[in-house]
This record gives sequence, structure tokens and C-alpha cells, in this order.
Amino acid sequence: SGPEAARLVASRVADVPDFPKPGILFKDLSPLFGDGAVFRAVIDEIVGFHGADSFDVVAGMEARGFLLAAAIGYATGKGVVPVRKAGKLPREVLSASYDLEYGQATLEVHADAFAPGARVLVVDDVLATGGTAEATLGLVERAGGVVSGFSVLLELGFLAGRERLAPRPVHALLAV
Ligand code: PRP
Repeated sequence: SGPEAARLVASRVADVPDFPKPGILFKDLSPLFGDGAVFRAVIDEIVGFHGADSFDVVAGMEARGFLLAAAIGYATGKGVVPVRKAGKLPREVLSASYDLEYGQATLEVHADAFAPGARVLVVDDVLATGGTAEATLGLVERAGGVVSGFSVLLELGFLAGRERLAPRPVHALLAV
């Protein structure tokens, strides 16, 4: 259930002060990914929330979004599309640059990653400022996909990523 998933996420977050830069309190979900039962439960919660029939393919952002996307893809028999940091993908790409909570970054997706009109579920571990998500959702759309849903394990509400993505809905297992 939703409240149970929220409790599980809350129980598996490690707060890391001053990482990767002074003043940033990093939310590390390695304990969640490292716990098989919890990992399975959060994957099932995301799939159940959207319904496996609501999407054709799953996209995840480098790097921790890959872990979620791969598990959801396997669990539902859907393909997985990696949204990568600049310079990693070998063929023609679409690029989007954005400001991060701690710096600047560029994300890329293969230009032919999505069949026209493909319904794409986008997943990542944490929604902070929303820069990563905004760039990714834009890339999916520019590449011809339709964003059918966006899920994160943890939303940092004080950084207002949800407002940045509005009116697109955000599904967060836990919001703090
Ligand atoms: C983290 C996190 C999200 C993003 C959220 O990734 O996994 O992808 O930041 O931040 P935002 O909402 O402010 O954009 P990070 O940049 O640390 O990349 P990594 O997973 O490759 O370490």
C-alpha cells in the first residue's frame, strides 16, 4: 500500500551531510536498493500505482534511475531506455542541459529510443530541484514518446521540484 511503501522508503534512507558538496544533505537510498524485500516492495508499488497496461517502455535517469527502470522493465516485460549523462550514448542523441542543486549537467537519450507515441513511464530515485526530471521528460517528448507517468522513491518537497514539473503529475512513494 502507499503508506506502507512510504514507511519502507523512510526506513531505508541514509542522510549524508556535505555530499557531494558542503551544505548539501544527500539522501542516499543505497540501503533500500540493498534490501531485497524492500526493493521488490517499492518496485511492486510503482507498477501497481500506474498499472502495467499504462506504459509501453520504462525510462530511467543515470545512475540510480537505471536500477528502478531495469527492475520495472523486467517485472512487466517492458523495454528499458537509459537517459544518460553527456557523451555516453554512441549513436545520434537528443540533449538537454539543466541546473542541478549542486552544479550543471547535460542528459541525453538516443534519438530513436521510442517508437512514435510510445507511452513512457519515467522513474528515478530522488526528486530534488526537478532539473533532472524536467530535462528527462522534455527529452522523452522531443524523442516522440508520451510521458504516461513519473515516479520517484523520495521527493524533497522544500526544493519544489513538483511545482517545476507542473502540470505533470509526480508520484512519490515518500515526500519529505
Ligand atoms: C540525483 C538523483 C536524481 C537527481 C535529482 O542524481 O538521483 O537523478 O540528482 O536532483 P534534481 O531534482 O535537483 O535534478 P545525481 O545528479 O546525483 O546523479 P547520479 O545518479 O549519476 O549520481
